[in-house]
Parts: sequence; C-alpha cells; structure tokens
Amino acid sequence: MPACVVMSDNTDLLVNYFTMSYLSGKNILLGITGSIAAYKSAELVRHLREAGASVRVVMTAGAAEFITPLTLQALSGHPVSSDLLDPAAEAAMGHIELARWADAVLVAPATANFIARRVHGRGDDLLTAVCLACEAPQAVAPAMNQSMWEDPATTHNVATLQERGIRVIGPAVGSQACGDSGPGRLLEPEVLVRHLENLFTTGILAGCRVLVTAGPTREPLDPVRYLGNRSSGKMGFAVAAAAVEAGAEVTLIAGPVALSTPQRVKRIDVVTAREMQVAVLDGVKGTDIFIAAAAVADYRPRDVSGCKLKKSAGKLTLELERNPDILAMVAGREKAPFTVGFAAETESVELNAQQKLQAKSIDMIAANQVGENLGFEADDNALQVFWDGGSVQLERARKTRLARQLVELVAERYHHKHDNDTVIKLHAKDPA
Ligand code: PMT
Repeated sequence: MPACVVMSDNTDLLVNYFTMSYLSGKNILLGITGSIAAYKSAELVRHLREAGASVRVVMTAGAAEFITPLTLQALSGHPVSSDLLDPAAEAAMGHIELARWADAVLVAPATANFIARRVHGRGDDLLTAVCLACEAPQAVAPAMNQSMWEDPATTHNVATLQERGIRVIGPAVGSQACGDSGPGRLLEPEVLVRHLENLFTTGILAGCRVLVTAGPTREPLDPVRYLGNRSSGKMGFAVAAAAVEAGAEVTLIAGPVALSTPQRVKRIDVVTAREMQVAVLDGVKGTDIFIAAAAVADYRPRDVSGCKLKKSAGKLTLELERNPDILAMVAGREKAPFTVGFAAETESVELNAQQKLQAKSIDMIAANQVGENLGFEADDNALQVFWDGGSVQLERARKTRLARQLVELVAERYHHKHDNDTVIKLHAKDPA
C-alpha cells in the first residue's frame, strides 16, 4: 500500500506558527482583589482574550467595591464568581471545577491582605479556595502602597510564595493613587500578559527538536472496515504541547484522532502503522528527542480486500502479519535521538515496561495501566517512568499536567545523557 502522509489542513495554525501567543487556547483564571488598581483588570481581561485565552474571573468582596462584576462579565464573556458557598455555582463552576478548569491562575491586583491569606493557606473565600485547590501554575501581581510593600511581613510573605513556586509579577515603581511614590503599582496589563506567557514556557528544551507520535493506527480490512484501538491521542497531543511549552520545536505525527493541533506544533496526519513509519523515519533526521505515545497496531491484515467483504454462513478467518516496530527502528539508528517509549499494559506493568526498555534499547519508557476507563480515552492518567538505573511514579492527574511532568523528566535525562556523551567525546580526543 503506498504511503500517504498528509499535512494538517489547519492553515491558520501554519500561518500563525511563530506569532501565536503561548496563551492561545489556554484557560486563565483571573483573581481580582480589593485594590484601586482593580480598574486595570478590565483592560487585562481584554488583552488576555486578544491573546487567545479563555478567561474566567473570580472577585473578592473588596474587589467588587472598585469594579463591577458586570463589567468583567461583559468583557470575559462568562459570569463572574465571588461566593464560596453559592449553591448555583457549586452545581456549575464551583471552586473545584474552576480549579480543574484553569491552566493558570493570575491574581491581579493582589493586595497585601490576599498575599498574607494565601501564605497562610486560608480558604475562606472563593478566590483563596480555588488557589488552594488548583494544581496549575499560579502567579500574583501585587498592588499596594509602597510602605505596605516594604513592610517586613509583606517581604516575608512574598518570599514564601516564591519559594512555593508561585510567580510574583511586579510591582512597578512610580506614583501611587494615595499620593506616595515608590514600589507597589500594578504592572500595566500588556506587561502582565507577557509575564503570564512565561508561566507556560520553561525553556528546558530550548533549541531541541522533538518528534512525537500520538493516537491509534488503523489497519484496513476492506474499504469500510479496519483493525484499530481505543487511543484518542490525548496523551500524545498533551506531550507535544508540553514540549512546545518547554521551548522545543515540535513535530507531531498523529493517527486518526478528533483533536485540534496544539499551538506551535507542526502536525503530520497518518492512518496506518506503515504510514506512521514512513513519516517518522522521514522526520527523525535532526531530531534530538523522539517520544512514541502512539498506540501502533502490531499487526495488519495480510490481504486488504478491494471491495466490501460480504458475510457468509461460515466463520471468517483473518490472516495478520507483523507491522514494523517504529520505536525500535528509531532507537536502532546509528545516530539515534534520545528515545522515549510508552508501554500500555493490563498487568505486570513494571515487569513488562522494563522488558520493553531493554528489548527496544530505548532511553526511557513511560508505562501506564490500561483497561476499563484507564489510560485510553480518559482525560486523566498515571505513569510509571523507567530508565537505566532509575524510575519515577507520576501520580494520577490530567494528561496535560502529567505530560508537563514527563517532559521535565525527559529533559533532565536527555541533558544528563547529552552532557555525559560530550564528556566522553572530549576524553576520547584528549591525547593524554
Ligand atoms: O491516546 P490516549 O487515549 O490518550 O491513550 C494514551 C495511551 C494509552 C495510548 C498512551 O499512554 C500509551 O500507552 N501509548 C502506547 C501504546 C502502545 O502501543 O503501547 P505498546 O506497549 O503496545 O507499545 C510500546 C511502544 O512501542 C509504544 O511507544 C509504541 O508507540 C511503540 N510501538 C509499538 C508497536 C509498533 N509496531 N511500533 C511502535 O513504535
């Protein structure tokens, strides 16, 4: 069967490949607290939406004294939430749903009082409760009088938030609403948006080329039937998006899935395992890291009928033949990239994964238990990651979050191997 490799028809994506904001397609939860600078939030919502983000606003009671929820509802296109114990909201977008929905939380303006409450883990209003429940990256943009900013309590609280991985953006220095001058002004909305974009770009794979496979393959039996599997592509697409956020140039080779292409990703669509093989071997040259998340069919029907197979009274026996093992082929190349496989197992997950790691001579394997509501199709997953001499358990989480953790691990192991290789080459050149 001739290979048929089709570029994504998402032309908008290709046109905007280099100009698109990292916020495009992201869910941003904007928290607003009681500061005069809350008036800037209206402009901030507008900039966030222009950058392609979906925005939901949570306001404290104090914030509503400075800017009306109606203004923010009109600008964000969604009702504004403010009550922790709101029966209607709990049925729709309560604090846990909001926390799960958010790809990032930005509290702007963040008062000294909010920062102190956040440090102490208070969850006595909707905004602090959402922040506590949210696993996504978080940032605060302080706004307060310059003496309040320089007070040792605030200095200590801000340092504590930073130690916990919460990004502190600003404040700016300048004249203040109270007549003072100094540090404590909320940064301008467009500057806040640029800083927020950095929450999604770690740079740990800057300069690297990453090739990812995702989704199932379909092996045709006749013009209307195929052998396939339940892979939705969610895991592999999340890995591609996470690699982009890590600063890599990413190509995604996708089997037939109903997912839109992650931002800044070059996508190549394929159908069968052999088409995937052609696309991978074509794309792997110059690739630094190959991540095989696709559920590639191990077998294909030996004969593909040119017309629809008719049913008959007797049994139908299909003869299958082996498909190429794409991952093993990539790992076996003379200049192989850092190679990461996935292992989908219904039992003996660790044992089978370790065997695949050895048998395919790959650098790393991410194993997942699959079966009823596990691994395939679901939005959540859990992974056990193995490499020569180490392993890490990535606990059950949304595939987007898990993918970020996996990419962090991959980057760490990749740089480790790369640095060691460089040292070995330098030693080999050393005549002494
Ligand atoms: O797509 P989702 O619905 O989000 O589900 C995610 C997932 C369960 C598909 C994913 O997490 C996963 O486990 N992907 C690998 C599935 C698989 O085919 O596992 P395997 O154990 O059969 O294969 C081992 C590795 O070899 C995989 O990296 C696979 O891509 C690769 N392989 C397998 C066969 C083959 N002919 N060529 C290959 O390259």
